[in-house]
Amino acid sequence: MKPTFQLRDYPIFVGDLLDFFPNWIQKQAYSQYFIITDEHTRRQCLQPFLDGTGLDSDMPGVTIPAGERFKNMATCEQIWQAMFDAGLDREALVINLGGGVIGDMGGFCAATYKRGVDFIQVPTTLLSMTDAAAGGKLAVDFQGIKNAVGLFKNPAAVFVEPVFLDTLPARELRSGFGEVIKHAMIGDPALWDRIVKLDSLDGVNWFDFLNPSIAVKVKVVEEDPLEKGLRAVLNFGHTIGHALESYYLHTASPLAHGEAVAIGMVCEAELAPKKAKLRTGELISIVQRFYPHRVVPESALPELWNLMQQDKKNAAGAVRMALPDAEPYTLHLMDLTYEDLARSLMVCNML
Ligand SMILES: NC(=O)c1ccc[n+]([C@@H]2O[C@H](COP(=O)([O-])OP(=O)(O)OC[C@H]3O[C@@H](n4cnc5c(N)ncnc54)[C@H](O)[C@@H]3O)[C@@H](O)[C@H]2O)c1
Ligand SMILES: [Zn+2]
Repeated sequence: MKPTFQLRDYPIFVGDLLDFFPNWIQKQAYSQYFIITDEHTRRQCLQPFLDGTGLDSDMPGVTIPAGERFKNMATCEQIWQAMFDAGLDREALVINLGGGVIGDMGGFCAATYKRGVDFIQVPTTLLSMTDAAAGGKLAVDFQGIKNAVGLFKNPAAVFVEPVFLDTLPARELRSGFGEVIKHAMIGDPALWDRIVKLDSLDGVNWFDFLNPSIAVKVKVVEEDPLEKGLRAVLNFGHTIGHALESYYLHTASPLAHGEAVAIGMVCEAELAPKKAKLRTGELISIVQRFYPHRVVPESALPELWNLMQQDKKNAAGAVRMALPDAEPYTLHLMDLTYEDLARSLMVCNML
């Protein structure tokens, strides 16, 4: 069957694994397979994955602890060690079965193991299906800084199998929905209108949201694979969102990635220039409907600012944020001051 999206370097298949995977793998000539899971995806997703692909259950692999806290060099060492222990050669295929953490870190380990082996992304969260699995950005966190060490390397293929969402906790669905909102705002007014009309995330048929959301991501990364221009727009909500995510990571109440991005989008949209004509009012009501309110204390500001200064988009000491425009696929870059951050968080706190 034809891929749902054919990018320059690789296909993305959306739908039943059984319809796509056996046919695809038959045309490849990999020497070995190696599967990376976390403790949850091993339990919830491995069996359906094996059923859908026909691969052997005793292929070598590694299971790592779940969560962003483990997206670091120490876990990479475990993964590389398991690859060496399994005797993987350069013709092997690494299978990343999990959310964005597994995709980013498994891809990073595969892309650097013996100077690089092929890998496929089999995303199991809404966030990774709609966003992280496509685009070839791979990274791990370093000394508390998100995605500080990494590279661009495309997967050999991406397989988006919506059935994995059946076991995904509601909070994780909500997190992934943050990126769906972002994509709609960047490039798809029709998708936006459907989101505006949504009352609840319960019982949503995610399949209907996956294709349009992935389509926006694909269009942006194909146009600007190495983030020289337009691709920065995918960082909407992330300048402030990433800082919030890092800030809360080691507290008793961490924010999921998409939850942090949802707050970040509202804050950043508040600071957007009028000429961007963003639908900020609608964005606020969507975020209020689906996300719990989080008051960010004023005492957090210096640390948040410090974290934002590490952001990779920055140039010459300024903190730079990326904003979309009412016109699809348009980017605005804006430098942010400490006062802007304080003001926008105050607005968010009062919502
Ligand atoms: N590379 C990119 O372009 C890109 C884009 C967006 C986000 N990201 C990265 O993605 C990460 C966040 O991804 P995420 O939200 O998928 O987090 P995650 O990988 O930590 O998954 C969230 C939780 O859900 C569990 N889980 C995953 N699939 C499941 C399933 N089907 N059933 C039950 N539980 C399941 C995981 O074990 C984990 O506990 C961040 O590190 C972020 O930086 C990368
Ligand atoms: Zn994101």
